Amino acid sequence: MFFGKKILVGVTGGIAAYKAAFLVRELKKSADVRVVMTKAAGHFVSPLTFEALSGHKVAIDLFGEGYDAATAHIDWARWPDLILVCPATANTIGKAAHGLADNMLTTIILAATAPVIFCPAMNVEMYKNAAYQHNEKTLLQRGCHIVQPGEGELACGEIGIGRLAETEEILAMINFVLNGSAALQGKRVLVTAGPTHEALDPVRYLANRSSGKMGYALAEQAALRGAAVTLISGPTGLPRPYRTELCRVVTAQEMHVAVQELLPENDVLIMAAAVADFRPAVRATQKIKKESAHSLELTATVDILQDVAKDKGDRLVIGFALETEDEMEHAAEKLYRKKCDLLVVNNPSQAGAGFEVDTNIVTILRKDGSQKQLPLMSKTAVAQAILDELQLLLS
Ligand code: CTP
Repeated sequence: MFFGKKILVGVTGGIAAYKAAFLVRELKKSADVRVVMTKAAGHFVSPLTFEALSGHKVAIDLFGEGYDAATAHIDWARWPDLILVCPATANTIGKAAHGLADNMLTTIILAATAPVIFCPAMNVEMYKNAAYQHNEKTLLQRGCHIVQPGEGELACGEIGIGRLAETEEILAMINFVLNGSAALQGKRVLVTAGPTHEALDPVRYLANRSSGKMGYALAEQAALRGAAVTLISGPTGLPRPYRTELCRVVTAQEMHVAVQELLPENDVLIMAAAVADFRPAVRATQKIKKESAHSLELTATVDILQDVAKDKGDRLVIGFALETEDEMEHAAEKLYRKKCDLLVVNNPSQAGAGFEVDTNIVTILRKDGSQKQLPLMSKTAVAQAILDELQLLLS
């Protein structure tokens, strides 16, 4: 994938530093890789590991041994086609945003003209801190690339956003930056994601356990393949995927309106949202008192996919199906009824599949009845497999 390319990997001091070792090994299969570490990174992984994996001496000190101290940082800065900072701590991102150059890595970043990708990994509160967010935005505005961290259990024991992105995501970003991925260039893709919230009164709503991760992964991966992507998202805590336009909605009705409005200007619709099938028949204007609430009257929401697919023209439509029994039988009926070109079937009761996790187990059902069964994979890898199928249809 990266044959003939020179990639400089900057490793900074976070627990995820060990994951950089796997990445260097992967990159080394096709690229020439050199590693620069901060001193703090050396507390987590030995430079020797990276020396062995990259086949080059690792740079740490600005005035280290083995290279001409006066110009070493310039030589290193001129060398790569790409700089990948992985993991990137809040500290290094802050320094890069402010043009500070107090160690070998930050000095190289300042002196280099190659594109830079940062892969942040940190505690959730550090990630949410306004100072960090400002620094990240500054780097993005300056043309740097960010592979957003994932959500889940962090090394510090807290749960939230801040985990180093998955290897597939980082490799997809490198591919995009180095090779200018063009597979979906010129295509406009509309993706829906997340749950919808159906209000019962001013403080309560009906919802489901969808995290939005699958739809967000699809939106990001489609963008990394060159598509112009609009993501219509129900309420989630996830950051806007890279290079996508984000349209936030809350209810099934709002999502329906947004899809109707945006579909005409798109070539593909991927309906990954877990749209509520029912909403309270009446939305109380005041908080319902417990004495008065004994039962709930529900009204069916519009089936967005079924409604818009009627007039899809030559657009391609990918639906999702969540089934807990007789999966493929129900899925085949849904694919036909909702006029889908592909249907991604998952059963959330399988371990590693479904809601709130970073992995999924799906089967992709095609219109001709054939299927592609995928093993347990990260949601990014599932997104890539779905987009591979989409590309086959487009070609
Ligand atoms: N969908 C939709 N609008 C709804 C419900 C579902 O557009 N009101 C879409 C989903 O985004 C998904 C597909 O329809 O792509 C299938 O969703 P699923 O929940 O599996 O099926 P339902 O049609 O809701 O059927 P059931 O819940 O009875 O299995």
